[in-house]
Amino acid sequence: MSLLSERLAELRDRGLHRRTRLISGPQGPRVIVDGRPALLLCSNNYLGLADHPRVREAAADAAMRWGVGAGASRLVSGTMTVHRRLEDRLAEFEGTESALLFGSGYLANTGVIAALAQAGGVVLSDELNHASLIDGCKLAGAETVVYKHADLDHLEWAMGKAAGRPAVIVTDSVFSMDGDVAPLEGIVEIAQRLGARTIVDEAHATGVLGPGGRGAVAAAGLTGEVDVVVGTLGKALGSYGAYAACSAEMSDWLTNQARTLIFSTAPPPPAIAAAMEALAIIEEEPKRVERLTANSKVMREALRSEGFDIEDQPTPIIPLIVGSAANAVDLCEEALARGLYAQAIRPPTVPEGTARLRISVMATHTAAELKAAAVTITRACEHSGLRAARPEERGRAVPVAESRAPGDDGQPIRASRGPKLFDLEVEAPSDFRRAA
Ligand SMILES: Cc1ncc(COP(=O)(O)O)c(C=O)c1O
Repeated sequence: MSLLSERLAELRDRGLHRRTRLISGPQGPRVIVDGRPALLLCSNNYLGLADHPRVREAAADAAMRWGVGAGASRLVSGTMTVHRRLEDRLAEFEGTESALLFGSGYLANTGVIAALAQAGGVVLSDELNHASLIDGCKLAGAETVVYKHADLDHLEWAMGKAAGRPAVIVTDSVFSMDGDVAPLEGIVEIAQRLGARTIVDEAHATGVLGPGGRGAVAAAGLTGEVDVVVGTLGKALGSYGAYAACSAEMSDWLTNQARTLIFSTAPPPPAIAAAMEALAIIEEEPKRVERLTANSKVMREALRSEGFDIEDQPTPIIPLIVGSAANAVDLCEEALARGLYAQAIRPPTVPEGTARLRISVMATHTAAELKAAAVTITRACEHSGLRAARPEERGRAVPVAESRAPGDDGQPIRASRGPKLFDLEVEAPSDFRRAA
């Protein structure tokens, strides 16, 4: 057996092996998954713009006008007018002096963090940040301190570790696997008081939260107060790519220092034109964002009425935490067999013991579809030997047991967040208050 086959076998044994499924047609509310029809509850096409006729047409027109590729990094073959137009438009949308396009959210986060957190500095990173932020921390020459999820006391304590060195605080605004919102006001207050820069990743908030879908930073009244807001074009805006919204000076710095911008081909013109059209639609049809919010509420309420303990969050991302990877895969398969596609999310994407079914709602779902989905999930749980957590089990801070005992009435599912774990190289002590 080769080393790779051994490793693959090990992943299978641990229930961590992944494969991609084949989807026929666009990312609409209903799709054909591996040949079977299903309600799609795991796409980030939150506003249904990825397959909107106007957005498709804008991409097609752009392909005819500017071609399908940007040819090179913008530092090599220049900024095309279509990129500049969208940047101006995005700066207006975000209320910042400038916006700088990147190839993707992953490239934006890794590039921006490494450009701002250089050797001799400190990065403070929320423990549930997205992998692209974690990888950005790893790329940066700075020391990384991971603070407890959304814990402002811990963040303030961690700032003490900066001890006069340049510090950067990085956080998702909407946490991609938990659907909760970072305490942005508190983070910005600490940063401004103690002299740190801030990078906020709005990947799941752009087009989803805030006035006119302007994001969680705008919703918190913090427009212009965050050093770099990273937004994506690939989720609610239905296209592909990302941007850093910031001051003109910061944009100049990133153009000179962000390696993922400098050494990577600019995003394709059709994707850029599609995002521009998506922004126009969001502005013309504010009801689309309102519909997403309403649908998120419908889904949360429907799951609650089935007995699940669902957090009250304003986002379309709803985790059903089932403990082990095997539980999550079972539940995903059972749901799919019943015509519902929600993805099983396992370590290392989420901390050990908190594998989950991640449900994401779109504006294009009907309320009836979402209510029926809650019932389907309940049936799939029953079949998988899982049940909703009882009230006395709510907020348990211990991982759900890994194995299911025969005859047991099922492992409880917690929809609230799992135990807080650290996953970067520098860990803040859990008894930090004493240490401080
Ligand atoms: C919070 C967060 N940030 C960044 C990204 C990466 O964005 P992109 O898919 O554009 O690379 C994702 C993607 O899943 C995400 O969830």
